[in-house]
Amino acid sequence: MTGEELRRKYLEFFKSKGHAVLPSFSVVPENDPTGLFINSGMHPLVPYLIGEKHPKGKRLTSAQKCIRTIDIEEVGDATHHTFFEMLGNWSLGDYFKKEAIMWSWEFLTDEKWLGIDKNRLAVSVFEGDENAPFDQEAYDIWREIFEKNNLPVERIAKLPKENNWWGPAGETGPCGPDTEMFYWVGNSDEVPNSFNDDNDLWVEIWNDVFMEFNKKADGTFEKLAAQNVDTGMGLVRVLVALNGLDDNYKTDIFWPIIEKIENLCGKKYDESDELKRAFRIIADHIKAAVMIMSDGVEPSNTERGYILRRLIRRAIRQGKFLGIEDNFTVEVAKVVVEIYKEIYPEVSNERILELLKAEEEKFNKTMEKGEREIEKLAGKEITGEIAFNLFQTYGYPVEMIMEVAREKGLSIAEDVERDFKVALEKHQALSRTASAGMFKGGLADTKEETTQLHTVAHLMLAGLRKVLGEHVHQKGSNINGERLRFDFSHGEKMTDEQKGQVESYVNEAIKAKVPVEVNEMSLAEAKEKCAEGAFENKYGDTVKVYSIEGFSNEICGGPHVQNTGDIKGIFRIKKEQSSSAGVRRIKAVLE
Ligand code: ALA
Repeated sequence: MTGEELRRKYLEFFKSKGHAVLPSFSVVPENDPTGLFINSGMHPLVPYLIGEKHPKGKRLTSAQKCIRTIDIEEVGDATHHTFFEMLGNWSLGDYFKKEAIMWSWEFLTDEKWLGIDKNRLAVSVFEGDENAPFDQEAYDIWREIFEKNNLPVERIAKLPKENNWWGPAGETGPCGPDTEMFYWVGNSDEVPNSFNDDNDLWVEIWNDVFMEFNKKADGTFEKLAAQNVDTGMGLVRVLVALNGLDDNYKTDIFWPIIEKIENLCGKKYDESDELKRAFRIIADHIKAAVMIMSDGVEPSNTERGYILRRLIRRAIRQGKFLGIEDNFTVEVAKVVVEIYKEIYPEVSNERILELLKAEEEKFNKTMEKGEREIEKLAGKEITGEIAFNLFQTYGYPVEMIMEVAREKGLSIAEDVERDFKVALEKHQALSRTASAGMFKGGLADTKEETTQLHTVAHLMLAGLRKVLGEHVHQKGSNINGERLRFDFSHGEKMTDEQKGQVESYVNEAIKAKVPVEVNEMSLAEAKEKCAEGAFENKYGDTVKVYSIEGFSNEICGGPHVQNTGDIKGIFRIKKEQSSSAGVRRIKAVLE
């Protein structure tokens, strides 16, 4: 099945059920300060989901262009993207759970539409919590369908908010319990009799959200006046599943781009994983850049323009890595235009190609200068201050400085990104002309929130060790002003109870308002005091140990809050999943 066919069938199906087919909205939100880009099909429809009347009626459907920038660093594997398309259908106070679920089932399984083998499908529904009850209605509708089709009802899972709740798209807005549909991508004679969230062979293909609530700025939920339905089907995922592929880039909405890059560099995509990563980053980033520019954004040093610039520049660097000597982004972009010009006509715009060409020429000059400067630093450690100077003088983005430094084997100071932000902030205090927009939420806040999350990471590690055992050690972390990502050694999925216990551990420490003390000592002494240290061999002879009495004792460079009471909000584990063999990954936030 091709992308074109899937899109067309989806929209035709919902048209046959009385839905108005809408063109995709721009990826740039209109009058919406809560996000830089549209991140889901429902996002541009928020005003209608909270009560405004839509001129086309109460049943809508669309294929929506979306941009998600949160996982940019993860692009390069088989599944993460910056740009993706979401197929969706909406009821604005019209039909509700029954029709939404029945139509999802019909579209997925009826021969006339996708004709998916019913035995490969499983679903999940919301199990209920303090904000909303167990979704009995959705469960009963599915049970009837499963029983009628002689499928095991154990393939209808009841899961918590972490899995079966969607929204809001920004910090506030419509949200609600959802029911998700999964497709078994393993062998057809090995479909398990029950659904298991931890088994990667069950791939989520569709999400029907029952938008009954509005999340308010104070974090509470109020019932919406109307009962809405918001569904989202990721186009590329379904293509991969239905075509029995194991790589999103092998679908027809990517493969011609990959082939073009193969021609340009004279190498084959399948040659090695390292090459694959470069091909994928170029294909994803140039596609996203074309989409962003087709909606009127131009490369710059602030906000959307900065993200766009960063995407283009990362793609160019990967092109160099593949050995492409000449300018190439325009050639790749032309293939993107070919793939999408029918469905999203705004991509056929000469201006996009001109902007890309100019950006590539400009960046080539920057890169040459910058790389020479970075090479001169051999033997020194790259600190935030040095990175800032390179940025300031050559416009060389911090992420890229780090990539080049890593490639050239230079050593990098631990908190370089944070220190870079501090240096930038200092600079901005002096000069109001420097660009602030690249960090969402303002720099001061970002810095403060990042520091809070640093301390939270210590508390969480201590909590994990207490709840799961002493075998737990930190394997890596990545913190920004919005969330904490944390990898740790542990062999199994955590239960909800364990996650709850870790959350309580951290939240109690916050409530207890304990001072955070720091002492310098020798590494040997620190070890004797049982201080936990993540990357021991990285430390010098003298180390700093941060202690939160009764809770945590850990070697670290800092900085941290002075008192756990300075941590604002309630600690929540949003996701817990496998990262690699024997290592789990948590994404957590302060709400
Ligand atoms: N808005 C829902 C999602 O993005 C449908 O999954």
